[in-house]
Amino acid sequence: MTDTAELSTVATIDPLLLELRRIVGDAHAVSGVEAPDALVDHRSRYVGRARAVVRPGSVDEVAAVVRLLAREEVPIVPQGGHTSLVGGATPDDSGRAVVISLKRLDKVRAIDLDNDTITVEAGVVLRRLQDTARDAGRLFPLSLGSEDSCTIGGNLGSNAGGVQVLRYGNARDLTLGLEVVTPSGEVWHGLRGLRKDNSGYDLRDLYIGSEGTLGIITAATLKLYPLPVAQRTAFIKLDSTENLLALFGRARAGFGASLTAFEAISGPAYALVEQRMPEERIPFPAEPNAPRWYVLLEISDNESEDHAARRLEDILGAALGDGVALDALMAQSLAHSQEFWRLRQYAIAQAQARDGGVVLHDISLPISALPDFLRHNEANLQSMFPGVRVFAYGHIGDGNLHYHIGRPIDAPETYLATNGADITQIVQDDVVSFGGSIAAEHGVGRSKRDALLRHKSPIELRLMHAITHALDPQGIMNPGQLLPRRLHPGDV
Ligand code: LAC
Ligand code: ZN
Repeated sequence: MTDTAELSTVATIDPLLLELRRIVGDAHAVSGVEAPDALVDHRSRYVGRARAVVRPGSVDEVAAVVRLLAREEVPIVPQGGHTSLVGGATPDDSGRAVVISLKRLDKVRAIDLDNDTITVEAGVVLRRLQDTARDAGRLFPLSLGSEDSCTIGGNLGSNAGGVQVLRYGNARDLTLGLEVVTPSGEVWHGLRGLRKDNSGYDLRDLYIGSEGTLGIITAATLKLYPLPVAQRTAFIKLDSTENLLALFGRARAGFGASLTAFEAISGPAYALVEQRMPEERIPFPAEPNAPRWYVLLEISDNESEDHAARRLEDILGAALGDGVALDALMAQSLAHSQEFWRLRQYAIAQAQARDGGVVLHDISLPISALPDFLRHNEANLQSMFPGVRVFAYGHIGDGNLHYHIGRPIDAPETYLATNGADITQIVQDDVVSFGGSIAAEHGVGRSKRDALLRHKSPIELRLMHAITHALDPQGIMNPGQLLPRRLHPGDV
């Protein structure tokens, strides 16, 4: 290579990239094309472009990067484990944004056993956080399908839920303090371990669930709980949504705070596993033509394995005795229990993928409204799109369903691409008319942004816009996500 060629190569490097490298080191700032994995979302539905992808190694580096980008008015896309199901951590295709990955902020800063808190940086993977707590003799109860790769920063940005929310709450409920880099590059040191703090507006709760639109969460102080002495799971078969709710009512009353998971799987979702994943072991043979629900129930006990088993036998025995439940299996070993969980956390989603994909809806409803919503919406869908298959499952104890729609069995694979948006509108309209939410635990991101505009009241939207304008006046934080940006509050 001649001197001239070398010079021209150097001259084409984006000066912003050079400045980013001065802050984080050459290895940790690359152009967008050099980091393709950071530009495509978890489900490969959105592919964006970025001016750069930068991986700061400390909160001071995050702040310095943000100050630089704010000065240059460059949009910022914060990114954690990159497992968003709503495209929330993927840049748009303008190529203007810089992705800030929090992956290198992965320190456990402190564990305070007397205060029952742990302070961790945003890039700590959820599984590692759970394991660290367990090694210290405590439970960190947030638990969800992507826990092997999602990070706590993303969990907080999206206020993630999961399978133990009915007992311990979602990410918000588990958080006492935050450290945040603001859109102008200042650091808010709010890592307080207080369970009571009524000293003004709750900035912590504003940032949690803000999906990267108000600032970047760099660390959090989180609640820890006692480790249960014993856990038992059961798998139960039921014949109607009414009995599903009846069993939930009994479980809640009978187990109290020991009820740590109550996950439901509808008959069609269950039958699809048998059909598409014959290699998987399932607890009962599927009965595709009978109305069925299946429940994975877990209790955590503070006395002993025997005590847990007796309580489970008593309550399930009563439910079987008077016909609320049709059949029930209690896991006899850890492996047996893991088999139940594998069906719930892995096989159902995998069966839908093998079936050619589904239209996803992450909805919540008042639990009391579930039977009527399900009947009404299925009828609406069938009248407009005859033969579509409803695969419903999820965290029924929180009123949260993953309400997925598959194409009619004989329809071409393109059916959902053609009709998906209309199907979604029917689902969302019914969810809202039954008092529910169209974004229960996965967030809004870009996939539900326009639907949010339709379904939130004007005053809620005005207040939300007022907050983004106040905290991010330049409109550089994760633009295009959650709300359309640079919209004057009066415009809504
Ligand atoms: C689940 C994910 C989709 O509960 O939230 O399986
Ligand atoms: Zn879920």
